[in-house]
Amino acid sequence: SVKDDDADRISVDNDLDFEMGKLNTSFDENEEEADAIDFSTGGESSSRTINLFGGVSLVVGLMIGSGIFASPGSILSEVESIGVSLVVWMMGGLLAMAGALCYVELGTSIPKGGGEYAYLELAYGPLASFLFTFTAALIARPASNSIIAIVCSEYISKAIWAADDGSDVPSVLIVKGIAIAILLAVCILQCVDGNLAMSVMKSTTVAKLLAIAIISLSGLWVLVTSSERRNVVFSTKDWSDADISPTALSNAVVASLWAYDGWNNLNYALEEFQNPTRNLPLAILIAIPLVITCYLLVNVAYLAVLNVAEIMGSETVGVSYGTKLVGHSWGGTLVCLFVAVSAFGALNGSMIGGSRLTHVAARDGMAPRFLYGLHPTRHTPYKAIIAQSMLSCLYILPGDFEQLLAFFSFGMWIFYALTVMSVSVLRRNRPNMVRPFRVWTPLVWIFTLVAWFLVINLLVSRTKACVACLVFLAVGAGVYGFKSYGNTPSAGGDRSPFIRSYTKVHQQPDGDDEVE
Ligand code: ARG
Repeated sequence: SVKDDDADRISVDNDLDFEMGKLNTSFDENEEEADAIDFSTGGESSSRTINLFGGVSLVVGLMIGSGIFASPGSILSEVESIGVSLVVWMMGGLLAMAGALCYVELGTSIPKGGGEYAYLELAYGPLASFLFTFTAALIARPASNSIIAIVCSEYISKAIWAADDGSDVPSVLIVKGIAIAILLAVCILQCVDGNLAMSVMKSTTVAKLLAIAIISLSGLWVLVTSSERRNVVFSTKDWSDADISPTALSNAVVASLWAYDGWNNLNYALEEFQNPTRNLPLAILIAIPLVITCYLLVNVAYLAVLNVAEIMGSETVGVSYGTKLVGHSWGGTLVCLFVAVSAFGALNGSMIGGSRLTHVAARDGMAPRFLYGLHPTRHTPYKAIIAQSMLSCLYILPGDFEQLLAFFSFGMWIFYALTVMSVSVLRRNRPNMVRPFRVWTPLVWIFTLVAWFLVINLLVSRTKACVACLVFLAVGAGVYGFKSYGNTPSAGGDRSPFIRSYTKVHQQPDGDDEVE
């Protein structure tokens, strides 16, 4: 009967598709063949143009954006101690590292772009990955793009228009207008030339690392030459004033998370990444320790030059640093330009990752099909890029920074937690899946626990935005129900195209186990 038949098929692919060795079409051993294999259901295979340096740039270039030039003050205000604030920066970084290592296990064993989308589908089924796509592609990515674009525009405006006292910032309308122009520029860049977009990614990453080096070294120089400043930074009394209640600590870590966000960016573009089995772990092990080191050094530099009160009172601590260090506003203006370049690079990186998500999801039928497609001559996923840019521009218009940020953090951290949990789920459900990289299991648990704790903390402290996000997820579930209404499970409708295409790639070489 049809029913038996179907049951058989499903058990066949459950047994066979992830078996060791013989079924592994893993990328590194036979790069060419893996490329020739069609991961997609749409008959297109992408070329692998991103090398290790490009991969590191995608991560570092998105992580270092605006956060490190803005958040140190709010972290200090939460914990009221220099020492503890540095520990918080360290904790945020280690959390990002743990998450990224879990994603390395997923990314090296599941040969798909689109990040969480692919892993959630395999671990929990299509509804979870649909909800992720729905949240990330419609809200989280575009909202974060719009935040970064506005920050970039604010700093450009500051550099151009600000008077010496910094009071003379242009009207909101101009700032938003510039932000939209920046978004459109990135959109055109990415649609027209993917390689150029990657070159911009690499060069802005190098530029921001140089800027960070200048800030850190100048700060360290102050520390070396002034014993008075050394005493402030290393004062032991400071530790006893600290507020280390769970609420203060978790608020502080949440404040660092924006600065560290982006650690998962490379997983979105894995289908274009060369030799991911070797290069993904390598890229992560280079990128994240590098970012953590930069952030700690920059924080020490701020502390060396500014007083704690000055840092706590400033939302643009980088600019205050530049101004005070050189004793003239041009120092601040220079930092403004650094931040603008840094934010521009991060925006570019965020759009590269985000458009890959939409592209891959649309390919699998998880997002509207018209968003799928490479440009015939430019070979860029231009439809996904344009769609994402339009949405990002839309979010700039109302642009309530705080709400957008809370919405982004809550929505994304739910899915980060679920994705990292999927490492355990997949180890249990698919023990034979080929895993070139295995993350140390306690990291999975620690990340999962901390992530849920942070999600609950956000729910309590930013209830409005979080409830909006939950409502949005419910709407997503409704849309999903509506979309799949009428799909007959016996025809394989309960298995999404991705599972089927993935199974196809991993089937027995003799081809007897054709699933479709
Ligand atoms: N870490 C970046 C910054 O400090 C923000 C990254 C936002 N994430 C994203 N997927 N767009 O500016």
